[in-house]
Amino acid sequence: MSAVPIAETLHGGEFLTVYKPDVLIFPTPEEVGRYAAQTVQEQIVTKPDSIFTFPTGSTPIEMYRLVVEAGLDWSRARIKNLDQYYRIDPLHQASYAVDMQKNLIDFINIPPENWAIPNGIAPDPDEEAARYEEVFAEYGPVDMAVLGIGPGTTCHIGFNERGSQLGSRTRYMPLDPQTRAANAKFFDDPRDMPEGSITQGIATILEAQRIILLAIGDHKAQGILRTLEGSIGPDAPASFLRYHPNVTFILDAPAASQLTISRN
Ligand code: PGA
Repeated sequence: MSAVPIAETLHGGEFLTVYKPDVLIFPTPEEVGRYAAQTVQEQIVTKPDSIFTFPTGSTPIEMYRLVVEAGLDWSRARIKNLDQYYRIDPLHQASYAVDMQKNLIDFINIPPENWAIPNGIAPDPDEEAARYEEVFAEYGPVDMAVLGIGPGTTCHIGFNERGSQLGSRTRYMPLDPQTRAANAKFFDDPRDMPEGSITQGIATILEAQRIILLAIGDHKAQGILRTLEGSIGPDAPASFLRYHPNVTFILDAPAASQLTISRN
């Protein structure tokens, strides 16, 4: 599947094509996870040396569970994670390195050098962001990026909070108060919740050949509406996905509940 071009728009002095992304709506979160897992599995079967960008957090947990269960060969694949808190010790229970290990990495045969995530305790976040931007670049573009979307009105992808520009690359990004409030639950002591992150930029993410975005729950409904039906711009960073020709939104019914435009 690929999205249908629907318009040309002027952005920063340049004409860009706007696409209508595919939107799939499933009754339950489990079905979102199953469809996403199948999509990842098809990718790795078709191209065993695929480069993936993967998210963390609660949304992809079922997808990872099913991917692990499928027992596929990850020996030639590469995974470049989307983001990491800054500052956070990679061994902290809520770090995204630990999140990835306990949901996926520890259960698949990916070589350690084929998995990358920003270093949350790098001395200089700008230097770490510049280094991370180049990770796996010599192997070509990311084949498939799997994304979540931020809570409330953040519409973040990765940790590209509101104000993120279309041309942004991997960088340090302070977290939106809504993000900090939503993610504090992952910390045994909510006061440990970091104030910032290192995230792939919007332009970095859009270089992926194919993108799927997963959203589960009615706390994502407002962001999904704004992303798919609002104007495209930095007030809703996920809306920039509409400039990409191959994006699929995989939603459960509550996350899709505020959409008004027919998706058929
Ligand atoms: P969640 O986070 O999957 O935990 O809802 C998604 C995000 O903040 O991008």
